[in-house]
Amino acid sequence: MAGKLTAPKIIARKGGEKLRMITAYDFPSARIADRAGADIILVGDSVANVVLGRDDMLAMTVDEMVYHTAAVTAADPAALVVGDMPWLSYHTSADDAVRNAGRLVREGGAGAVKLEGGRKRVPMIRAVLDAEIPVMGHLGLTPQSVHAMGGYRVQGKTAAMANELVSDAVAIAEAGAFAIVLEGVPDVLAEVITKEIPIPTIGIGAGADTDGQVLVFHDVLGLHDGHIAKFVRQYALLADDAVAAVEAFFADVQS
Ligand code: KIV
Repeated sequence: MAGKLTAPKIIARKGGEKLRMITAYDFPSARIADRAGADIILVGDSVANVVLGRDDMLAMTVDEMVYHTAAVTAADPAALVVGDMPWLSYHTSADDAVRNAGRLVREGGAGAVKLEGGRKRVPMIRAVLDAEIPVMGHLGLTPQSVHAMGGYRVQGKTAAMANELVSDAVAIAEAGAFAIVLEGVPDVLAEVITKEIPIPTIGIGAGADTDGQVLVFHDVLGLHDGHIAKFVRQYALLADDAVAAVEAFFADVQS
């Protein structure tokens, strides 16, 4: 445990050095994230899109998330590994939430779990915390609510919606979450929430005034040719490099 990032150490970073979070889904991506100095590695259900080629995250199962989480923790990163709870693994009851969060920890080796939603998730968050598992919240554009939201849309644009999101963030923080991902919300709202709550906020498409930032591994590296959200900054185009490398191999084969 010494030298490892933990949920209490992440809370202590509130307002300090910005938190560096990125997704990873397997051993090599976890090694890369860890060598680059990630504080938190999220085994996100975005694995559905960027690794498994699915249209949305809704078909992800707990078994699949455990499988990917175990591949990430096999890399033994110093970062805190957060296992994403898939859709319907915590919506049905607090007992289901504890059982499924427990699988991500016991079988996957995660040090914390993430779940989406606001005040209505407080009973589940409390139950998982009672089982001694740290919980990260996720508010705003929550991809598991794609049908309820009517698509992947920025949330909190009206004053009423913004107030709802502030109340959700306060409730989740009071319930005991150690951090909250703010996805797809106006910059000014992310800034307000960040000032309002005592735990770190980690933004994605939420401006610069959060306590940290998260991006999807394959987006950062330019590893997939699918749709890239407007806010994503790509730092490499590795898919193109990979095609060129394989083409060079095939050219050698011919010669
Ligand atoms: O699944 C995921 O990758 C996520 C991040 C985008 C926060 O939830």
